[in-house]
Amino acid sequence: MTTRDDAYDLIGVGFGPSNLALAVRLAQSDAAGLLRTTYLERQPEFGWHRGMLLDDSRMQISFLKDLAMLRDPTSRFTFVNYLFEQGRLQDFVNLKQFYPTRIEFHDYLRWVARGFDDLVGYGEDVTSIEPVFDTRDRRVVTHVRVRSLDAAGRVRERAARALSIGIGGAPAVPAPFASLAARRDPALVHSSAYLSSIGALIGDGSARRRVAVIGGGQSAAEVFVDLTRRFPNVDATLIMRGPALRPADDSPFVNEIFNPSFTDVIYAQPDDRRRATLETFRSTNYSVVDRPLIESIYELFYMQRVRADVRHRLIANASIDSAGRIETNARESGIELHVRAGEGAQRCVERFDAVVLATGYRRDGHLALLEGLTDALGVSPARCDVTRDYRLQTGGHFQPHIYLQGCCEDTHGLSDTLLSVLACRADEIAASLLQRAPQPPRADAIRAQAHNGASDSLAAVAL
Ligand SMILES: Cc1cc2nc3c(=O)[nH]c(=O)nc-3n(C[C@H](O)[C@H](O)[C@H](O)COP(=O)(O)OP(=O)(O)OC[C@H]3O[C@@H](n4cnc5c(N)ncnc54)[C@H](O)[C@@H]3O)c2cc1C
Ligand SMILES: NC(=O)c1ccc[n+]([C@@H]2O[C@H](COP(=O)([O-])OP(=O)(O)OC[C@H]3O[C@@H](n4cnc5c(N)ncnc54)[C@H](OP(=O)(O)O)[C@@H]3O)[C@@H](O)[C@H]2O)c1
Repeated sequence: MTTRDDAYDLIGVGFGPSNLALAVRLAQSDAAGLLRTTYLERQPEFGWHRGMLLDDSRMQISFLKDLAMLRDPTSRFTFVNYLFEQGRLQDFVNLKQFYPTRIEFHDYLRWVARGFDDLVGYGEDVTSIEPVFDTRDRRVVTHVRVRSLDAAGRVRERAARALSIGIGGAPAVPAPFASLAARRDPALVHSSAYLSSIGALIGDGSARRRVAVIGGGQSAAEVFVDLTRRFPNVDATLIMRGPALRPADDSPFVNEIFNPSFTDVIYAQPDDRRRATLETFRSTNYSVVDRPLIESIYELFYMQRVRADVRHRLIANASIDSAGRIETNARESGIELHVRAGEGAQRCVERFDAVVLATGYRRDGHLALLEGLTDALGVSPARCDVTRDYRLQTGGHFQPHIYLQGCCEDTHGLSDTLLSVLACRADEIAASLLQRAPQPPRADAIRAQAHNGASDSLAAVAL
């Protein structure tokens, strides 16, 4: 059944930290009660990379870069206030720790998200976005229509004057694994689904299991260490393209590129200079590992030699030519990798019971969602510029504002996919939105607002 709601001032697509930060910012604005907003999230409840919520995994930025602190240290939505309200602030201080566990930060984000439950449609997967034309002038687009599939399989449609797309990344699957992934091979898993899948792949622990981890970044290192620590029946092999695990550069001068104020600097650079800047600082974030984790992996290999018990391996300088299912007989199953490795690029065949792709994320999911706007925009969304306030630049005939979060690295810098700028980016988007969004309050809206005290009480504008 298709239902049709009235127009929203803002629909957030995805409810991860990006749109959560925006919800927080809007809740703290004077216009909060005048905006009709909703956020659509495909997960059944709030979750921040749950598939990688490993016990000893830590944050990669300071807890001070939470959803609100850098914009407004007095906000009740800060991590410090969360600690205070949980009764842990004093004990947290005793930890002398800037980098809480991801489990604790996840709990903080969930604590904030709970305050917005009435604004979020959990279990709703946004499938397409289309233009809504002015009935009097078919050249003018006044709204966008957001189509989603809810948990019960119903298609829902909502119209909005503005969108904030914050859908994060999608698993990147290297070409040799594409057909196994397309067939949903049960022995192949991406790191984003590691925790929910690994148990079934490892079994009850009675049989030895060979597991390969592909990649040389933080996810690969964390998965590899988890396999070696938690599963005594696993022989783990880390297979990476590069020659060595390399540390993330988080030294203070370099770290300035993650200051919210640096966004102005990088955005203002000419394209070629900006590309060079991104390349120079790539090793702050991608294909790099926290130094203590590298050291613990090195020690693990060293201790294997001391014990003369070499079970876990690292294959560096490796390229994978192909990957296929082992079909030999009923007793042997799994995935076979054709690998070229070492300085001489020797060919070898490796067999595994399971393969974990820790091969990072693609950031182009918004383009597929926005494809349905191409004719109305007059150009593919991929070719539209993005303004400093994160808005897709459109012609005057296209009135809805479409804000992009987490997919503007090319224009807004390496902090765009991270938590570093969340609070300030939300401020900039909110300012841009509020410049045009609040409609003069109508009598019924004011009555509803007084009655509900909620931020989504403005009666809808009919289409
Ligand atoms: C394991 C891991 C750990 C990380 N740790 C850190 C860290 O410590 N510090 C840091 O700065 N960065 C970290 N990052 C980077 C990460 O991108 C940010 O922390 C943060 O998650 C970005 O928030 P987001 O809301 O933009 O994206 P996400 O957190 O990915 O949230 C996007 C949301 O959109 C939803 N969604 C996607 N498509 C749709 C759709 N079509 N319809 C409805 N909902 C949809 C998803 O379910 C998800 O909930 C980490 C990344 C990973 C993978
Ligand atoms: N504790 C935490 O806070 C935590 C945990 C995990 C992840 N993260 C964050 O999440 C983000 C992503 O990290 P990530 O480790 O998932 O991804 P990543 O840094 O992008 O690393 C991906 C790895 O996969 C390899 N790879 C990609 N394509 C490949 C191919 N075709 N064949 C072989 N190898 C391939 C890359 O190799 P090359 O190096 O050769 O390109 C790289 O080593 C980062 O911001 C990271 O900091 C944070």
